[in-house]
Parts: sequence; structure tokens; C-alpha cells
Amino acid sequence: MDWGMKNRLSRIIQPDTGRCVMLAVDHGYFGNVPGQLKSFKKLEPLFRHADALMLTRGMLRDCVSPELNKPVVLRVSAGASMLKELSNEAVNVTIDDMLRLNVSAITCSIFVGGEYEKDSLMNLSKLVNLGHMYGIPTLAVTAVGRDMVRDARYLGMASRMAAEMGATFVKTYYCDDFEKIVEICPVPIVIAGGKKIPEKEALIMASNAIQKGASGVDMGRNIFQSEAPIAMIQAVREVVHKNTTPDEAYELFNKLKGEEEEVISISNK
Ligand code: 5RP
Repeated sequence: MDWGMKNRLSRIIQPDTGRCVMLAVDHGYFGNVPGQLKSFKKLEPLFRHADALMLTRGMLRDCVSPELNKPVVLRVSAGASMLKELSNEAVNVTIDDMLRLNVSAITCSIFVGGEYEKDSLMNLSKLVNLGHMYGIPTLAVTAVGRDMVRDARYLGMASRMAAEMGATFVKTYYCDDFEKIVEICPVPIVIAGGKKIPEKEALIMASNAIQKGASGVDMGRNIFQSEAPIAMIQAVREVVHKNTTPDEAYELFNKLKGEEEEVISISNK
């Protein structure tokens, strides 16, 4: 890995712990705008607690201050909304704009087993090629096709394929036998949070993933849809960076949630 790529990656995966807490807020790119996520401007207090932000360039320019100084993992793929075939994506951001926005990594989804599997894998290849040319790490998101089972066999296969194609790091889902995915994937893995579940369960999931070898989380709804998002992200940080047990992290969440102003509480509607 050359200097520029290493330097960018170390802004995301923190060198002191080898782990990261990324906050995913790119859901709107395919038409999924959960609750008050449209009022992004309120989220800046939450952004401050993330190691990195994963989002689209529109939201970045409109809603994030350039002075916030958080590394950005830019989603550079789009193509179909949730009303159509999601796997039908292409790379939609030029390299000029990626550089202008000073991104620390670029990302797209791969739909292994999906209708447009090949196109999505070629999108990843394009990003890997650009990344090597300009020193930008590539995150491959192993999105799950409609009929795919989220098990270790499938997610392991998709994660391994992403690594073989040159992804610098991979985002996948937590599942039973998660360690089997880690075993066959030679690059760092972060987990998505998935649909909102109770806070304690989300902390258990994050902890299990970390203990089984994940390098962190790229969590969205389980943080920004929490009744207390700032308390939740701080609890997740403890689990990821300090190996805190889910019980202790949940205790911290309950303590901090009392102190949180309701200004960024986001409904799940
Ligand atoms: C969708 C994504 C999203 O960023 C990610 O899955 C959202 O995070 P969460 O599931 O934790 O809400 O990459 O393809």
C-alpha cells in the first residue's frame, strides 16, 4: 500500500486500536429516507463522535461543514431506487470530484448473486483502479440481493470476492459463524448495523463482531434512529475501541441518554 493510501486509511481505521466507528448516512441514495434523516443539519453533534462518515456528495456538500474535519467515505455509486432493481448501479462521481471533496475512501455496493452482479463487480474494479492511481482506499459494501440468505457462506463468499478484486476493506453484515467470514477475508471487515433493533441487542451484535475479528462498524440506523443517538454512538465506541462488554456499554448508554438533548432524536417512521 503506498503512502497516500495508508495515510487516508489511517484516518478511518484508527492506528491506536486498529478499529473504527463509521457512521453510515447514505441511505437516501436509493430513496430510503428514514424519519428525520432529511434534516441532516441537526446531525452535526452526532457526526463529531464518529471516526468517519459514509455518505453521498450531495449530503456532504449541503449538510456537513468542511471544518468538521472528519474523514469521508464517499458513496460514488447510484442507478436505481428501492422501487426498482437495486443491483443496477454504476459509478456516478468523477475522480475530479472525489479529489475535490478530499475523500479518505470511496465506496460502492457489490450485489453478488444479484441480477446486475457483473456490473456491480466492474464498478468495484473501477474504484479499485482509480484508488490505486490516486492513493484512495476502496470500501466494498456487500449488499444483499432480494433472494440471498445473510449467512456466513454467502457473506463470506461476497467478502472474499471483494478482497480478491482489490477492495482495501469490506463492509458486510453480522451473522452466525461470523469468524468464518473473517477467516477467509484477507482485508479488514466492518459490519453494517441493518434495521433498527433495541440498543442492547445492537451493542451485543457489535461486540460479537469485534470479538470474532471485525475491525469496526459502519452503522447507520441503529445509531441515528436510537432514542438517544449521541449516547448510542458513544456506547458503540466503547465496544469497538475498548472491548467494553455489551452490559457495560448499555449501562453507559443509559447514563448518557439522560444527558442528551432531544434535538437530534430521529423517528423510525
Ligand atoms: C446500504 C449501505 C448503508 O450505508 C448501510 O447498510 C446502512 O447502514 P445500516 O444498515 O447500519 O443502517 O451501505 O447499501
